[in-house]
Amino acid sequence: MPNKILVLGSSNVDLILRVPRFHQPGETIRSESLTTIFGGKGANQAIASKQLGAEVVLITRLGDDHYGKSYRRYLTQKGLNPKSIFLDKEVPTGMAFIELDPKGENRIVVSQGSNSALSIDDLRRCSPLFRKTKVFITQLEIPIETVTMGLKMAKNSGALTLLNPSPSRPLSAEILSLTDFLVPNELEAQALTGLRMRKDQDLPRIAARLLKMGVKNVVITLGPKGLFFKNRNEEIRVKAFRVKVIDTTAAGDAFMGALACGLAESKPIREVLMFANAAGALATTKLGAQPSLPFRKEVETLVKNHFKD
Ligand code: RIB
Repeated sequence: MPNKILVLGSSNVDLILRVPRFHQPGETIRSESLTTIFGGKGANQAIASKQLGAEVVLITRLGDDHYGKSYRRYLTQKGLNPKSIFLDKEVPTGMAFIELDPKGENRIVVSQGSNSALSIDDLRRCSPLFRKTKVFITQLEIPIETVTMGLKMAKNSGALTLLNPSPSRPLSAEILSLTDFLVPNELEAQALTGLRMRKDQDLPRIAARLLKMGVKNVVITLGPKGLFFKNRNEEIRVKAFRVKVIDTTAAGDAFMGALACGLAESKPIREVLMFANAAGALATTKLGAQPSLPFRKEVETLVKNHFKD
């Protein structure tokens, strides 16, 4: 039986606009194309773990509208239990407006919609699901009190907790102390600590500050520069895999899903980081959030070929 991962988080419908460049305030430009794809950090991370072979449960809330109903059907077809995928009668499905430039960089604006209604009551309804959880993942596209309660319930059931602090916002000492693995990107790490990262040598200092703030392990993802890991005992630097970047959307989500998967399988931390790094890299080679999430074989092949070179 594969290991159980519980993901608490958002589901959005992503509207992706390919733009020739990011434009200035007050300027109007034409988009080269518009693509509609299922996304949202919570659902992306759940599907990422699932495609890597884990048994996954997703707790999320969609609108009771056309988008929400078809997204729920899709998630069910992907093997996620619909019982913890709630439909909201009051608020429409969350949407993300994503601008994508020719280098594959993105800018995202999220309209929270039904994600803002994912509540502590929803968590209480799902409490039996926490019992068998080995690894718990959450992010910040849902109400902060729901995040806090999710972390508490996960800790109480003995699970390892992973927090992806995105989109960035200040975090309470309580949340930080409930977090076993904090996984920010460079910008989020700087925002949380108030420390600037001018050069690579600043990473240990920033990670040390996050440890001091209460988390047990820090993984700072650095896009094309790889990642930096630190806990009380060790520091690990992993370089990025070289791939042809099409779209960086959901690279962080693929990374989170793979990190959770590796940790749930109790692999050594270096191996887990390599696996997650490869999953993140592969997600940048295709357009969109969920269609870009890799399968286990692809991730293992990328890691194997890397060690062959
Ligand atoms: O991390 C990528 C995701 O961020 C997108 O799918 C979008 O929905 C936003 O939540």
